[in-house]
Order: sequence, then structure tokens, then C-alpha cells
Amino acid sequence: MDQIVQEAYEQAKATREKAYAKFSNFFVGSAIKAKGNDTIYTGCNVENSTYGLTICAERTSTVKMISDMGGSPTIEFVVVVADTEAPTPPCGLCLQTINEFADDNTMLYLSDLEGIKKTLKFKEAFPMGFKL
Ligand code: THU
Repeated sequence: MDQIVQEAYEQAKATREKAYAKFSNFFVGSAIKAKGNDTIYTGCNVENSTYGLTICAERTSTVKMISDMGGSPTIEFVVVVADTEAPTPPCGLCLQTINEFADDNTMLYLSDLEGIKKTLKFKEAFPMGFKL
């Protein structure tokens, strides 16, 4: 595994512990890296008393990336960390959000607390994403 991916995994795992998940108690961390930029944008889920306002870890990371970088960056990879038996993929809303900044080479690393358990191309997880 690339050093930068491993570093992103460690940061996503640490950020997972900051999740505001008092309703589901399901803690998620993520990390996104854009092409041509070494910054790792971490995120956690932020729940809300009006449950539907919950923001997933992956969307937190994506919003952090855009508000920091601006422009139209391409995501190189996304790491997701959750404490589950089967690796947790991004939800449908997050897939569509990531899709906006993904290309054919964008990678997805699904992980648990031990490490990265599944590596796939983003387009395998979301083959027909809508884009204008
Ligand atoms: N969640 C994420 O943050 N990312 C995922 O990939 C799956 C789900 C959050 C949303 C909610 O706070 C909790 O996990 C349970 O659905």
C-alpha cells in the first residue's frame, strides 16, 4: 500500500473518533486526497436531532477539500473507516457527491479499525453516476 494511502487511513481512523454520532452510535471517518495536492482532507459524520440533516464522513471530507482548494479538483482516492465486519461503502448521497470530483482512476479504500480491507475503483462502486 502506498505510504500516502496508509497515512490517509491513519488520519481517517483518528478522525472517526471525533464523529458526532449520538443517535446511531455508528462512527465513521474518511480521508480524501485530490490529484496534484498532498493535503489529506479528513472527515467524520455529524448527526443532528432532525435525523435527516446528518452529514456523512465522506461528504464532510469533500466539502473541506473544495472549501480549501476551490476550483474543480479530481479526487485521487477516498478512504472510509468504520468498525464493521464487512467494509462500509459510502452511501448513495456520498457516492453522488464524490462522483462530482471523481474520474476513471479514482480509488476507494474501505477499511475497519485494523486496516484497509477492500480496494476498488470508485467507478466500480458507482458505475453510472450522474454528471452534467
Ligand atoms: N455514515 C457515514 O458517515 N458514512 C458512510 O459511509 C455510511 C454512513 C454515517 C451516517 C450516520 O451518521 C451513521 O453513519 C449511520 O448511518
